[in-house]
Amino acid sequence: MKDKKLYIPGPTQVRDDVIKAMDQPMFGHRMDKMTDLYTTIVEDTKEFLDTDKHVIILSASGTEFMETSILNLVDEKVLCATCGSFSERQANIAERLGKDVTRLEYEWGKAVKPEDVREALEKDDYEAFTCVMNETSTGVRNPLEEIGEVLEDHPDTFFIVDAISALGGDHIDIEKSNIDVIFTSVQKAFAMPPGLAVCVVDDDAYQHEKESDSSSWYGGFQRNIDYYKKKGQTHSTPAISLMLAYRKQMKHMLEEGPKERDKRHKEMAEYTREWAHEHFDMFPEEGYMSQTVSTIENTQGIDVAETIKEVNEKYDLAFANGYGSKLKEKTFRIGHMGEHTVEDIKELTDAIEEVAGL
Ligand SMILES: Cc1ncc(COP(=O)(O)O)c(C=O)c1O
Repeated sequence: MKDKKLYIPGPTQVRDDVIKAMDQPMFGHRMDKMTDLYTTIVEDTKEFLDTDKHVIILSASGTEFMETSILNLVDEKVLCATCGSFSERQANIAERLGKDVTRLEYEWGKAVKPEDVREALEKDDYEAFTCVMNETSTGVRNPLEEIGEVLEDHPDTFFIVDAISALGGDHIDIEKSNIDVIFTSVQKAFAMPPGLAVCVVDDDAYQHEKESDSSSWYGGFQRNIDYYKKKGQTHSTPAISLMLAYRKQMKHMLEEGPKERDKRHKEMAEYTREWAHEHFDMFPEEGYMSQTVSTIENTQGIDVAETIKEVNEKYDLAFANGYGSKLKEKTFRIGHMGEHTVEDIKELTDAIEEVAGL
């Protein structure tokens, strides 16, 4: 079967030389070769994300950090902004861990508003506030930079950000936005094979966990960071082959540069929105549209599943239906993240036009 070009919101297309980078003989995770590999990918990631904070690269998917950031930083009370499936998952995880969760709830398609966050944080004390940067189910990009200004007035509340479908395709100033913990999965805008998660942690979060009685073992910030500081390695056996791919791809990302990468994603998002407005409509609230995934409202009532199938069979291109029972067929999603260019997106939109008879 022919490979399909991926426009789903993750996993995304991976460069051939990145796939090939995994094809190397195995070595031990306590060997110097591993120290060289892990320190290179950690330091390169800091450079790409333009941060001096701690960076952890763990063999896991990003969901691991949704869980561990709660385990490491919250004893009792957490405020979770919910505006779609993944931000709801974050609240559900906190509840499952037995925390006292208050939801700041938004209708799907709407963005989290800084003034609501301010009001909620003034009403009660919370150890942490969680927010998704890019809600992949709805295609909403939350105004994290402005929300970060609110958090500046609440230094006792940790700001935890799920940036799983954003980092690498939508640049954020982590320091300026007062973010304590921000994480991603590598199979999205980093355009790597799945299986690694990246988390940026500041000193306050590290210190807090150090002084607390309960925290995650595997995803403990302290354990991961201390091991890196002492040995330049991971505390347990990592996915070495994936890290080899990571090293290769991160070099490509640095070569392009974070600003250029951000610009390319912006151009793809703008092109997709224009196309959507011409034929359909955009689902998210105006002014809060994602730079990495467009959720398009199916105003023409096309058979989305059938269109996806035909585009897949005829053109070997794969895009995504709307998320879950709420948005399936009512919307569809185009992932414009990772290594794609406007030309690639145009290839897909041309195919959709042809198949759907637009
Ligand atoms: C915003 C967001 N959060 C969390 C997840 C879960 O990520 P993973 O499956 O890599 O753990 C996803 C995956 O699509 C996502 O888009």
